[in-house]
Amino acid sequence: MSVVSLLNEVHVRPKGQLLKWIGNKYKFAEKIVSFFPKEYNKYIEPFLGTGAVLATLCPHQAIAADTLKPLIAIWDILQNEPDRLINHYHKNIIQFYRDRLETYNEIKLRYNSLPNGLDLMLLSRTCYGGVVRFTREGKMSTPIGPHTPITPESFEYRVMEWKERIQNVQFLNQSFETTMQSAEQDDIIYCDPPYIDSQSILYGAQNFKFDNLIHCIVECKAKGAKIVLSIDGKKKSGEKKILINVPKTLFEREVYLDCGSSMLRRLQNGGRTMIGEDVDDRLLLTW
Ligand SMILES: C[S@@+](CC[C@H](N)C(=O)[O-])C[C@H]1O[C@@H](n2cnc3c(N)ncnc32)[C@H](O)[C@@H]1O
Repeated sequence: MSVVSLLNEVHVRPKGQLLKWIGNKYKFAEKIVSFFPKEYNKYIEPFLGTGAVLATLCPHQAIAADTLKPLIAIWDILQNEPDRLINHYHKNIIQFYRDRLETYNEIKLRYNSLPNGLDLMLLSRTCYGGVVRFTREGKMSTPIGPHTPITPESFEYRVMEWKERIQNVQFLNQSFETTMQSAEQDDIIYCDPPYIDSQSILYGAQNFKFDNLIHCIVECKAKGAKIVLSIDGKKKSGEKKILINVPKTLFEREVYLDCGSSMLRRLQNGGRTMIGEDVDDRLLLTW
């Protein structure tokens, strides 16, 4: 199996975010990528979301997937027809600048009657605080934000920048279980799953089971892949503490990410990991 060097690839995050989406990993993306091995076979991201880590890594070969269909549609359009994204943003944001609320409600209604990538992209840029919230029935429910959305010129710049970074990626609308089946020796897998308990609404009810993820990680590790799992402590603080059963030797290191600095330690969890502590973002690594 060929292992391709990363040395010539970009590890600087894009200058701006393509989608405005609360809880994304844009702020931590460079730090996260810095823990990836310098050489790898292919990159796999089973919980893609807004793709901050993917775009920062700029992989030579990758599979990126998510169960939210209109989100994967955005990535497909970005890769294959970027002008459609640019034109849709331009047309609608000019109208939005003229009549904010009416335009926002029009876009939301259009999306909710026929979920699609172009309108989801617009909603993420115009909704309140990037809180892209769905009802249990999958309807986007966030009200309009008070901010002025970025200009069409600025959006176009972002499209062009992001498009370059995802040329070698295969985007798939599927569950993490299916995505992780394609793991091979020397792959890197970055998992940023929905936050247990709290995010089933933010990201739609998408049948996520943490135990299944741990099972998939065990299998991928056995195939020789290296897995990085993000755990967001802050999001869960204040909620009930969740103890998960993790095989004792599954994760070997834990990294705390606190905007700039990071702390690395060997795991001594006695086979159990506590999530729900009031800590910064952290990573669990299988090597
Ligand atoms: C925490 S977000 C990922 C955020 C991403 N790292 C970013 O920077 O934007 C989790 C993602 O997992 C997706 N998701 C939820 N359940 C899933 C499942 N069962 N399989 C695959 N993806 C799932 C959600 O649609 C959401 O985009």
